[in-house]
Amino acid sequence: MQKVAVVTGAAGGMGRAIVTRLLGDGMVVVGLDIDAAALAQMEVQTGFTGIEADLMDAAAIADTFARIAQDFDGVDALVNNAGTCFMSEFPDIPVDEFERQMSLNFSGAFHCCQAAIKLMAGREGVRKIVNISSNGAYNFDAFDPPHYRASKAALDTLTKDLARRYATEKIAVNSIAPAMTETPLFGVVSAEVLAKAIAQMPHGRAMQPSEIAAWVGFLISPAGDISSGNVIILNQGRDVR
Ligand SMILES: NC(=O)c1ccc[n+]([C@@H]2O[C@H](COP(=O)([O-])OP(=O)(O)OC[C@H]3O[C@@H](n4cnc5c(N)ncnc54)[C@H](O)[C@@H]3O)[C@@H](O)[C@H]2O)c1
Repeated sequence: MQKVAVVTGAAGGMGRAIVTRLLGDGMVVVGLDIDAAALAQMEVQTGFTGIEADLMDAAAIADTFARIAQDFDGVDALVNNAGTCFMSEFPDIPVDEFERQMSLNFSGAFHCCQAAIKLMAGREGVRKIVNISSNGAYNFDAFDPPHYRASKAALDTLTKDLARRYATEKIAVNSIAPAMTETPLFGVVSAEVLAKAIAQMPHGRAMQPSEIAAWVGFLISPAGDISSGNVIILNQGRDVR
């Protein structure tokens, strides 16, 4: 039987690469995103179903997973990839921006975990959750603002809690924390800041979404069964001291 993966932020740079990777690995993939038009274009891929959902809305997440429960037998893997980086600088961060940052990057992933774990019950093998965190939660030299860093640090604590909580139920939970990866999210910073950040990458180049997706695919494959509770930092060795 084909395994079912749910990928959030499926229509973004990283999301599309993760969808391609998991489809290539033979999974059925359900992609969630607020961008309905982009999801519709992606439906040409065999095995892919797009569902429009605002992941800042807990009720919408509940409705979406109710639909997934109805249309698919259950869920074998969840990739919490949806996220963004709002760039106001501390202390002048508007309340609304702070709340939206935490809502998409942390609360949305939290609610997806709550719903997906219930649909993982009774599935064969080790089920997987992969949370897409950020190197920004650990490297304080780069440009990331504090509400972005904090949202990803919270996500990584959720990773560890769920990893421990569900270990004996064979649900493995890991975070992948990439540094500079070439996606539309690069647009949140100026060309000058971007060039400086890319120049700091040891290989002299940004990473590609397919390179991050390969690690997601590995964790979700049987080879990844024995890893849980880890935050895997992908940055070409930039921050090793
Ligand atoms: N690109 C990088 O350098 C980088 C580095 C570290 C971590 N990350 C993380 O990778 C993840 C993917 O980012 P990306 O670079 O592909 O960005 P992206 O902007 O290309 O993709 C983000 C996706 O999330 C969707 N989205 C936004 N708001 C939403 C909402 N309310 N509900 C549902 N979907 C929504 C967007 O439509 C988009 O498809 C994010 O969690 C980001 O924090 C990216």
